[in-house]
Amino acid sequence: MLHTPPVEAFHSFIEREQRRFLAELTEWLRIPSISSLPDHKNDLARCAQHLAQSLAPLHPDRVEIWPTPRHPAVFASWNQAPGQPTVLIYGHHDVQPVDPISEWASPPFEATVRDGRLYARGATDDKGQVWMHLKAIETLQRCLGRLPINLSLIVEGEEEVGSENLIGLFREHSKDLEADVVCVSDTDMFQPGVPSICVMMRGLAYFEIRLQSASGDLHSGSFGGAVLNAATALSRLLAELHTRDGRIAIQGFYDDVRAVSEAERAAIRTLPFDAHIFRQQAAGAPDFGEQGFSPLERLWIRPSLDINGITAGFQGPGSKTVIPSVASAKLSFRLVADQDPARVESLLRAHLARACPEGVQLELTTLHSGFPYRAPVDKPVFSLAKKALERAFGRPAVFVGEGGSIPFIRQISDATGKPCLLLGFGLPEGNAHAPNEWLSLDNFRKGIESIALLYEELGRTNPR
Ligand code: BES
Ligand code: MN
Ligand code: MN
Repeated sequence: MLHTPPVEAFHSFIEREQRRFLAELTEWLRIPSISSLPDHKNDLARCAQHLAQSLAPLHPDRVEIWPTPRHPAVFASWNQAPGQPTVLIYGHHDVQPVDPISEWASPPFEATVRDGRLYARGATDDKGQVWMHLKAIETLQRCLGRLPINLSLIVEGEEEVGSENLIGLFREHSKDLEADVVCVSDTDMFQPGVPSICVMMRGLAYFEIRLQSASGDLHSGSFGGAVLNAATALSRLLAELHTRDGRIAIQGFYDDVRAVSEAERAAIRTLPFDAHIFRQQAAGAPDFGEQGFSPLERLWIRPSLDINGITAGFQGPGSKTVIPSVASAKLSFRLVADQDPARVESLLRAHLARACPEGVQLELTTLHSGFPYRAPVDKPVFSLAKKALERAFGRPAVFVGEGGSIPFIRQISDATGKPCLLLGFGLPEGNAHAPNEWLSLDNFRKGIESIALLYEELGRTNPR
């Protein structure tokens, strides 16, 4: 054992054990831990328990279920490498709903392997990726006989609903969560076969807006043309949030957007972006966005605004001649450094107050928010991670951005002052949040290997 270089030992151990790894993951994926649906509350508790039980054979010093007012988190720690650095692993065990269920080729909670992919809700986002960390820990213990570094792990149950209680857990357990680096596997690789570290992640500011124009709906013949219609007023407000050339038309909105250096933009241009593949991944949707920025720049270094849903008036079959008195919409901004969700809220409020027609009541509610994250890429852990990924995948690793958000990332890096390493093994075509979510088995194996190699390297070089 001592004479085999770890890369070989890890590789063959993972090859040998991968069927069991997948069988175990399949059991965890059976639990429908949909955090947004109240009927599944008990499944989240079961899901946390299942994880805690699965950690026991890895001999942590502590495994605990941390209750919250909504869904529990699981904590574990291994303090078995005195003097060595500590990595805090973060992930989430909650998943998104499965609707429309009829579009799944196999049942979402019965994980199924087809064509080198594991299909299930949570297969990549994020149970499958959390499982990779567990199996990396097992690989290290079995191949080296010990853990080369200290580890803590927090797997929460509320990521998909905005991580509301996580910051509270952090305050309560700040000592337990101290670490030199935070490692998160909950993002995508740039392309199949291209190992990636996400170094810029967008934040989120999600709102619901409700307009009321009258105390009740009206006959559109008796009143149409003489009174304001809430649906028309809302449509105008929403349409005016963008300029014709794709910018967000809220005064001051771009003030805090950090200019990105020409060197950083050049680095993005070196990535093998394929417009045709992008269009396919985007389900054929036409291009949209700010002039002067490429699609990757629009996704990674520029903010965006999307209307996520609109409701007003008559929705049934056939027609009904009515003037709706109420109209509402859900809308969300993706934010980039150095934007602040609270400031975006006040800018939006001021904008809407100016734009809202007189006599209409406007209500704005914040649903989620999270700050954007930029990684301190000069810290040694980023080059070590690149090296580990390259050894496992046989291809150089790239730094990428991510248009999606994990609100916790900034909270934890601000709270600890430590870098967050986003080592993601999902794929853009992996159908996260959609029917037929899948995890590449190739990424599963190579991901476990990269994580094990990284932790081994951190133990050997002990960078601070
Ligand atoms: N794992 C995702 C973040 C992500 C999104 C990674 C897209 C890679 C690609 C995370 O679970 C997620 O879905 N985040 C939500 C935010 C949350 C507050 C609902 C998102 O980005 O919409
Ligand atoms: Mn996720
Ligand atoms: Mn998600």
